[in-house]
Amino acid sequence: MSFSIAIDGPAGAGKGTIAKFVSEKFRLKHLDTGLLYREAARLVIQEGVDVLDVVRLEEIAHKVDTKCIIENNLRNEKIASIASQIAVVPSLRRVLTQKMRDFTNNIEPKYQGVVLDGRDVGTVILPQADVKLYITADEQVRALRRTKELEKSALQKILEDIRLRDERDQNRQEAPMQIAEETIILDTTFLSIDEACEKAAKIVTQGMPDIIVKTKIS
Ligand code: DC
Repeated sequence: MSFSIAIDGPAGAGKGTIAKFVSEKFRLKHLDTGLLYREAARLVIQEGVDVLDVVRLEEIAHKVDTKCIIENNLRNEKIASIASQIAVVPSLRRVLTQKMRDFTNNIEPKYQGVVLDGRDVGTVILPQADVKLYITADEQVRALRRTKELEKSALQKILEDIRLRDERDQNRQEAPMQIAEETIILDTTFLSIDEACEKAAKIVTQGMPDIIVKTKIS
C-alpha cells in the first residue's frame, strides 16, 4: 500500500478538520472512520435493533457500505450516542475494521495514499501507518468548540425558517404582508429593544391628535 496517515483523538479535538486539510494538501484519500460507526447506528435505529443484541449488531456491521454513506444524515447527537454504545461490541468492530482496511487497499491512482481519522487507526486499523498523529485538547475547550458548532448550525436552520416564513407571508394571495401607504419604517437592526420601543413611542406621539395628552418621551 502507498503512503498512509493515522490520525486519532477524542471528540472535538479537531482531528476531522485536520485530516481533511492534510488529505487535500497531500492528495490523499480521506476516510472518517467514525462515519462507519455512525452509519451502523443509523441502521440500528432504522431496523429497531437492540444495542445489546450482539448477533444482530454484527449483521448490521456487514450492511455498512462505505460508498453509500451520507454524512449529513449522521451528524446528530442521537446517532453519535448510539454509535458510541455499539462501538464497544468486538464482533461489530472487527467487521467495520475490515471494511476500513479494504477502503485503504482500493484507492484510485490519482491519490498518493490515505489518511484515516478515528479512535483506533494508529493502534488497530493501520498500525503500520507511515505517520501517526494523536490530536487532543482540553475537554472544556472541546466542549466549547462543539457548542459553537451547534450554535452555528442552529442559527443556519433558524435563518432558513425565517426566510421561508417571510416568503410565504409576502407572497400569499390573500392579504400578503406589504408596507402600506404613508407608513413610517422603523428598522430595528442596530437598536436595542428598549431603543426601538422608545422610537416607536416617539413616532406614535408625533402622529397623535393634539386633543390626546401626549406622554413625554425623553
Ligand atoms: O468520531 P465520531 O464522533 O464520528 O465517532 C462516533 C463514535 O464511533 C465514537 O463515539 C466512537 C466510535 N469510533 C470508534 O470506536 N472507533 C473509531 N475508529 C471511530 C469511531
